[in-house]
Amino acid sequence: MKLTMQLKSRSYDIILKAGCLANLHQFTNVENRKVFVLTDSGVPRQYAETIAAQCPHSTIYTIPQGEGSKCLKVYGQVLQAMLEFDMDRKDLLVAVGGGVVGDLGGFCAASYMRGIDFVNCPTTVLAQVDSSIGGKTAIDLGETKNIVGAFWQPKVVLVDFDTLATLPHRHVVNGLAEALKTGLIGDAQLFALFESKDPEAQIEQIVYRSLKFKKKIVEQDEREGSVRACLNFGHTIGHGIEAVRGIRGRRTTGLYHGECVALGMLPMIEDPALVKRVRAIYRTLGLPTRTGANKAKVLEYMQHDKKTRGDHITVIKCPGLGCWRADTISTTELPQLLGME
Ligand SMILES: NC(=O)c1ccc[n+]([C@@H]2O[C@H](COP(=O)([O-])OP(=O)(O)OC[C@H]3O[C@@H](n4cnc5c(N)ncnc54)[C@H](O)[C@@H]3O)[C@@H](O)[C@H]2O)c1
Ligand SMILES: [Zn+2]
Repeated sequence: MKLTMQLKSRSYDIILKAGCLANLHQFTNVENRKVFVLTDSGVPRQYAETIAAQCPHSTIYTIPQGEGSKCLKVYGQVLQAMLEFDMDRKDLLVAVGGGVVGDLGGFCAASYMRGIDFVNCPTTVLAQVDSSIGGKTAIDLGETKNIVGAFWQPKVVLVDFDTLATLPHRHVVNGLAEALKTGLIGDAQLFALFESKDPEAQIEQIVYRSLKFKKKIVEQDEREGSVRACLNFGHTIGHGIEAVRGIRGRRTTGLYHGECVALGMLPMIEDPALVKRVRAIYRTLGLPTRTGANKAKVLEYMQHDKKTRGDHITVIKCPGLGCWRADTISTTELPQLLGME
């Protein structure tokens, strides 16, 4: 399967195929330039090696796994390693891993020598259904997520389904939450896959349909001036929950991003019958249905979030299956949304 992101001079192909990591050389020049392969310590080494083996002038650089690597320190270390590898403007960075490697690698590619080519090879469900396309790259500043970054589109995206064989099950489900988000706001057929007997057996179709929807949105609004905001469905409250209960920094237990988004979507669905269906899907997949977080703390975070500060906040609601609506509400309405009143 193949999709093409149509963005004029920044257009690129998204290849979806089991085993396609071994075919990188068919999609970009890896012969006559240096290739910096970025991965993390939790990604099985074989995937980066499959990439490096096709490139005569390559190096593999491994960062520690986890969100903590999306920081200025690791960003600086990667850039330093790129400089020491003597890379110039025509060289290439290939990210092999989940959203962490993709976001950091994309930002390194965007900023090194004012921008070099970047190829994304997502190896988690979350990265395959969502973060690997669209060109948002970023790192965090302390607790503030994705606050420093750039729009930098990849040259090609290789979605190799085989890599999911090694992914821990909880990470599979975590990524499926983002795909379910897409189904809810824009694709009833995608949603139907989640109501089938064994959604996980449909993963290739789920990835394909999720990317297809995101591609259409990004093509209309690359820099999130309008419709792209719909992809933030579930994320306003989700980020609040993540700040309080997410696995972050020294907190090693808690909820993953997709799990927080799953919880953040529930109050934003306006049709009670649909909420029931979504909860049933969460139970089948093993996603949380209750926050278990101190709502007052979630609210406090949302009211002080540096990215949403002000008296008003725009949230994405789902009035019914396959639709969405942006609502600008007063922050005084947040307690009600969180079910605190
Ligand atoms: N740029 C965007 O548009 C966008 C969108 C959504 C999320 N994100 C970002 O994505 C990040 C989360 O991504 P994630 O959920 O992929 O997390 P992640 O990158 O931390 O990966 C999860 C874990 O799985 C391991 N792993 C990766 N691939 C594996 C494989 N095939 N087999 C075994 N283990 C593997 C990693 O080492 C890591 O420990 C967050 O930082 C979030 O902000 C970005
Ligand atoms: Zn997300």
